Amino acid sequence: MATEKVRITVLVTNSVGLSFMLFAEHGLSFWIEKGENAVLFDTGQGRALFENAPFLGKDLRLLKKVALSHGHFDHTRGIKTVLEQAENNVEVYAHPAVFEHKYFRGLRKGQPVELFIGLPFPREDLKNAGAQLHLSTSFQELVHGLYITGEIPRRNDFEVPEEGFYVKEPGGSFREDSIPDDQAIVVEGEKGISVITGCAHAGVCNTLDHIANFTGTRSFYALIGGTHLVKKDIKRFEHTLEWLKKYNVQLFAPGHCTGWDALAFFSEHLEGKFVPLEVGATFDL
Ligand SMILES: [Fe+2]
Ligand SMILES: [Fe+2]
Repeated sequence: MATEKVRITVLVTNSVGLSFMLFAEHGLSFWIEKGENAVLFDTGQGRALFENAPFLGKDLRLLKKVALSHGHFDHTRGIKTVLEQAENNVEVYAHPAVFEHKYFRGLRKGQPVELFIGLPFPREDLKNAGAQLHLSTSFQELVHGLYITGEIPRRNDFEVPEEGFYVKEPGGSFREDSIPDDQAIVVEGEKGISVITGCAHAGVCNTLDHIANFTGTRSFYALIGGTHLVKKDIKRFEHTLEWLKKYNVQLFAPGHCTGWDALAFFSEHLEGKFVPLEVGATFDL
């Protein structure tokens, strides 16, 4: 990997601090600059992104590369407008399961629900809007020294798949969705190797282990993004803390689907290394 200046700008996440004309949304989107290159990682739901990007000085029209963490709408629903606004064709990196028809089925406020929560555009729509698709289950290099992980093996016994996620098959039947498309970004900057997650449905610990195995590194500078620790118990927080320490993570900036309980836990246990994720924040790696 090449060491170049890396800057992450948070374009979309679930909270926003004291700021001018920026909006929060249930979703996630990062603008990643590495040297002269810029990559968009996720697009949010497609409202806050287009409000926030101009105020943060990011011109989506010039974009050439987008990576999608997984197919859920809060990460992908803005993709079509991103493609339409771009002046050139855009390389889009994702796992092939990103196009599966993803649903949440379960109880909401005591009532049974069946909600479509996937990418609302078929691949033909994205191609017609200028997408050049790079679908892979393996590591892919987006720009020199910046990778997307591909499918993340679920190796430990405590980051178990969450209930309620399903894929609707073409015949109309449902099967459970382990969300194999969930992947993260790996980037080497001046301060070391850092990881940027989408929802981390594979689990933060599985994600770090997978990247450590691939890169051979035993330490990470930063871990930034969603952790899907919302509604999880303290044991899961403690396991995650153990892994952050194992890999000597110097900066932990969780947000999006992390949840207040986990944010409070890490704020208390990672003093000096914890920063809550907010729209407009920047991180120099
Ligand atoms: Fe999410
Ligand atoms: Fe998700």
